[in-house]
Amino acid sequence: MKTIFENVKILVEKGEGFEIVDGSIGIDGEKISFAGAAPEDVSGYQKIDGKGQLVMPGLINSHTHVYMTIFRNVADDLMFDDWLFGNILPREDKLLPGDSYWGTMLGIGEMLRSGTTAFLDMYIFTDENVQAAADSGIRAVMSRGLSGASDRDEGGERRLREATEEIKKWRAAAEGRLTFMLAPHAPYTCAPDYVEKVIGRARELGVGIHTHLAESRNEIKNIAEKYGCTPIEYMDRTGLFDLPTVAAHCVYLTDNDIDIFAAKGVSIATNPVSNLKLANGIAPVKKYLERGINVCLGTDGAASNNCLNMFRDLSFLTLLNKGLLEDPLAVSAEDGLKIATVNGAKALGLDDTGSIKAGNKADLIFIDLDRLNMFPHNNIISSLAYSANGSEVTRTIVNGKTLMENGELKTIDEERVRFEVARIADRINN
Ligand code: NI
Repeated sequence: MKTIFENVKILVEKGEGFEIVDGSIGIDGEKISFAGAAPEDVSGYQKIDGKGQLVMPGLINSHTHVYMTIFRNVADDLMFDDWLFGNILPREDKLLPGDSYWGTMLGIGEMLRSGTTAFLDMYIFTDENVQAAADSGIRAVMSRGLSGASDRDEGGERRLREATEEIKKWRAAAEGRLTFMLAPHAPYTCAPDYVEKVIGRARELGVGIHTHLAESRNEIKNIAEKYGCTPIEYMDRTGLFDLPTVAAHCVYLTDNDIDIFAAKGVSIATNPVSNLKLANGIAPVKKYLERGINVCLGTDGAASNNCLNMFRDLSFLTLLNKGLLEDPLAVSAEDGLKIATVNGAKALGLDDTGSIKAGNKADLIFIDLDRLNMFPHNNIISSLAYSANGSEVTRTIVNGKTLMENGELKTIDEERVRFEVARIADRINN
């Protein structure tokens, strides 16, 4: 199947930033066949007029827990410990097999509608989250969350075994849209010898690492008391960062922590809205970028955001760093867009996504530039960071397939998802 979208504007990389080119974009199977000027012979292509639309790479949600849509708005305006230990974990204990399939489907539908084409997930039930990602057509890097009090902890061993079996079962499925990581949850839930065990397994499986680090002042304090170091130093001592690693949050890094990340090539998935909502602070992203660290962007779960809309996080990312530093140049619209696309692809190891060029995977979104909040077209790049809210996305394409068009999800039965999630939420949250 070959399709050409004509009369569109296209966001393409130029140097360190982007430019907008007018022209056409061609899709042949799973890939972009051309972008900009169309070849002379486009016979065999189905033609679609895209006047008034901007085509850009799909956003990459680089840290989330998609199934947590089930807990959306059930535990807000609470202190962190009350939120996690008093409200979220007791509800997670009530989840039954099958529940997180529907929670994940709801979250994927929300992401496809608001312009996300790939995500990095961490979850607690194996197979069903992966099944939802496979069924929906989206691209995903999946990781079962791991915790262990020691390398002999039975629960920790079981979780690692489940993660391993899941990876072996699924890694060749779903047209190659699914890849995997191992996810030692955080320094306060994983003992050093358990982390070392996870590292050994990751090497055997040839997968990278997804973790949470330096999210709150409390974590910094507790790790210092227990181990006499920072969370980053703690994980560095285990050898974790010798593997490709995506570390979520990273709100509080010392200069030495930043040196370690820069030397080891660790990617930081910043989560501005989640950090604000749980009152954990603001990550100094400008500083990380200046040190050459690959920063990407994630929403975190819907229990702490409370939505999976990457455009909202993109806007917060840019605005927060300007405000924090009293510097309007701190994180520009272009910086933000790069973080939400190119850098996400790099962090997740999705080498042929994140930017528009011939040969890359066709993971694309279309933005209606004639919406009143996007008009006039004085600076389209600015409008994506500062004016868009995600509702302007008219088409979402993943791996060459249209999964959402004009608000209609092609692979997800929204009514069924609402019915199932309402049933689950009734049982768990009341
Ligand atoms: Ni998280």
